[in-house]
Amino acid sequence: MSKFIVVEGLDGTGKTTQIKILAEYIKSKGRDAEITAEPTAHPTGRLIRRILSGEVKTTPWSLAALFLSDRIVHNTAEDGIEKMLSDGKTVISDRYYYSTFAYQGHETDLNWAMDMHFSCPEVRKPDLVLFLTMAPEKCVERIRANRPDEAIEIYENVESLTKISRQFDTVFEKLKDRENIVYIDADGTVEEVSQRLFDAYEKYIGE
Ligand code: TYD
Repeated sequence: MSKFIVVEGLDGTGKTTQIKILAEYIKSKGRDAEITAEPTAHPTGRLIRRILSGEVKTTPWSLAALFLSDRIVHNTAEDGIEKMLSDGKTVISDRYYYSTFAYQGHETDLNWAMDMHFSCPEVRKPDLVLFLTMAPEKCVERIRANRPDEAIEIYENVESLTKISRQFDTVFEKLKDRENIVYIDADGTVEEVSQRLFDAYEKYIGE
């Protein structure tokens, strides 16, 4: 049966690398896996990227609503998550609504951000959430080392990431009875961390 997995974590935790390795692992077990990400490549996601870079200004409330809008587009049965799942794929999303709850939730109202997602029938609940954890100082060190020439986005500093990290904990504590959430220590070699993801996959999804 197709499954919907989300990988979350602060910027710099190595999500993108680990998602690629997890997709290969799932494929090696004879299942079809597809990676997808938020913000999306749709017009909503492109506008969000311009806001994150600081080029376009908006309010945290408007940004939270834009992320919901982008997520609804991301879910569609035409070419989104619903389509991939109905094609029999295991879908792995690089970020999902937990990021809105953590990044925008602490600057707006967390209950409002949650309510608008959970009352929307066009936003699917994942089967498994893998949350990569790492100290914010180390995340910023990695972001700078990996892209020294590229612009740093609005949240990519120790102060913001510390607040967001605490907010992720609040969010997952609130959701622990309604969602399958696994904390993964992302401080280790690529191989060590990917083994932790494989173990979680086997425990909750593997067949
Ligand atoms: P990220 O996964 O870090 O993309 P990339 O590595 O390509 O830059 O996501 C971009 C940023 O978007 C990141 O700082 C987190 C932020 N974000 C939110 O603030 N709210 C959300 O709902 C999502 C999906 C992302």
